[in-house]
Amino acid sequence: MMSPRKSRKPIKPSRIFEVGNSEVVIRKDPVSAMQRSKAIGLLHKQIVKDSYISRMAVPDYIVTMRKPGENAEPIKGPFDTYYGDEAPPEGPLKIESGWHGTRQVRPGDVTNGVDWFSVAVWQRYAEPVWMDIAQSDVLSRKEAREEADEAHIAPLQLTPIRRCVDLWSNPGDIVFSPFAGIGSELYVAIQMGRRAIGVELKPSYFQQAIQNLQRAESENPQHELFNGYDAEDDFARSIDEAYRVVRERKAAGGPGWEPP
Ligand SMILES: C[S@@+](CC[C@H](N)C(=O)[O-])C[C@H]1O[C@@H](n2cnc3c(N)ncnc32)[C@H](O)[C@@H]1O
Repeated sequence: MMSPRKSRKPIKPSRIFEVGNSEVVIRKDPVSAMQRSKAIGLLHKQIVKDSYISRMAVPDYIVTMRKPGENAEPIKGPFDTYYGDEAPPEGPLKIESGWHGTRQVRPGDVTNGVDWFSVAVWQRYAEPVWMDIAQSDVLSRKEAREEADEAHIAPLQLTPIRRCVDLWSNPGDIVFSPFAGIGSELYVAIQMGRRAIGVELKPSYFQQAIQNLQRAESENPQHELFNGYDAEDDFARSIDEAYRVVRERKAAGGPGWEPP
């Protein structure tokens, strides 16, 4: 006889998303990583002492997934901005567009350099390893440090987020960040004229995210997300609401711990 687990047909993730469409590795500077994390495996003095535990810096990864089928709303148009750090000396952006994406018009180019610039940007973005990302391009996290472990949050750099938002969303679309931290993905979404939804577990990060989003909103006057918004009040209300749901489920004989 089959166990109940085996008799259930699992939903294949591939029916929800096509996984593995592409994967990008984002370079990490080992010196910055060592200064931030104080990991002894990254220290040169550990090499001298005993390299048994020495290791490399851990890169970030971007893994893309997409809903199978037709895309109802095309995300179209050439790139008009290059988000990235200085290109390496031999890189196509240096040779072809003169660092930092300055447009150049070639003879016979009827797009005033737009298409040609966009091709150069795409050739950079289509690389499977992104080396041209400034290490320090992150949101400030100082105010989020309430407890010792909170010093270890690793905010994503804003540049790769800008690339992803530019590549895979239209203005007005919703960017969802299920592990929002201090709100980097949401911050960029607002800056770039998208809407944003985030979920965060730690109250101090949540508060910091709200502050960051209020800043993004003030920089982008089209958005009026936080007028009259009280983050503390909202957090208290959402916790109360979560506890209420758990109490109701328990009262109906369901699982759950005892909320305070
Ligand atoms: C690596 S951080 C994300 C940082 C974020 N990308 C940024 O740049 O600000 C991961 C976050 O996920 C949060 N987290 C972990 N488990 C969670 C859960 N079950 N629900 C919501 N947030 C969670 C952690 O508190 C942490 O802030």
